[in-house]
Amino acid sequence: MVAVTRTPLTAGNWKMNLDHLQALALVQKLHWTLKDAKHEDGSVEVAIFPPFTDLRTVQTLIDADKIPFALGAQDLSAHTSGAYTGEVSGAFLAKLDCRYVIIGHSERREYHNETDEVVAAKVQAALTHGLVPVVCVGETAADLEEFGASAVPVGQLRIALAGVPADADIVVAYEPVWAIGSGQAATPEQAQDVCATLRTVVAEVVGEDAAARTRILYGGSVKSSNIAGFMREPDVDGALVGGASLVADEFAAIIRYQKHVGV
Ligand code: 13P
Repeated sequence: MVAVTRTPLTAGNWKMNLDHLQALALVQKLHWTLKDAKHEDGSVEVAIFPPFTDLRTVQTLIDADKIPFALGAQDLSAHTSGAYTGEVSGAFLAKLDCRYVIIGHSERREYHNETDEVVAAKVQAALTHGLVPVVCVGETAADLEEFGASAVPVGQLRIALAGVPADADIVVAYEPVWAIGSGQAATPEQAQDVCATLRTVVAEVVGEDAAARTRILYGGSVKSSNIAGFMREPDVDGALVGGASLVADEFAAIIRYQKHVGV
C-alpha cells in the first residue's frame, strides 16, 4: 500500500444533546480552551457533529470567529428532495457548509432500522451532494462472541462502499457497539486489528489509493486518558467521540493528545 500521511481527525458526535444556544457556548469554550493552550491548528483536524437544529447557529459562529472546526451532520436522507416528511437532504447540509455527515451509526441501525442497503444509499447521497460520509461500522457484544471482532464490520463496510468511486473522499469509523457509552473502550490492539482489516476492505472495494488516504477512526468510550493509546496505532487515524465531546476541557484534551502524552 502507498505510504501517505493522513491528517488525524478528531470528531465529536454530540448525538441528541445541546440546543442551539448551548451549542454556541460549547463551541466558543472549546475554541478558547484550545487557544489558551496554544494548540497548533492543523496538527489534527477537528470536526463537530451537532443536532440538525444547531447547524445554522454553529455555522454562523465558525464563520464569524474563523474557528478552525469542520462541521458535520449526524445523518441525512437518501433522497434529494420531495415528500419525505422529517428528512433532511444532503443538499441542505451542503448549503450550511457541512463538510461531513455521519452515516450508519449503530444507534440509527438499532433504533431506526437502518439496514446496510439504506446506509449504502445514504453514502451515495452524501457523495452526490459533495459531503464526506463518515461511515460507521461495528459489532455488538453478541456478534463479537459469535463471529469475532472483524466479521460484522467488514460485511457492513463492503455493502456501504459498493459503487463508491476510486477518487471519493470518505472516512470510516470503527465503533464496536459494546464500547459505545459503556466506559469499556476496546484496547488499542483490538482497534488496530479491526481498523487494519477495514483498510483492506477499502482497498478491495474502492481501491489501493483510497485505502492509503482514507482516515479510519476508532469510536467507543474515547477519553483524554485513553486517546493516546489508540493514536499510536498505525491504522487508527483519529477518534469519533460521543460523551466526552460534550465537555470542552475533555474534548480539548483529546484533540491535544500529541501534547499531553508522548505519542
Ligand atoms: P461514546 O464516546 O459516548 O462512547 O460514544 C461513541 C459514539 O457513539 C460516537 O459516535
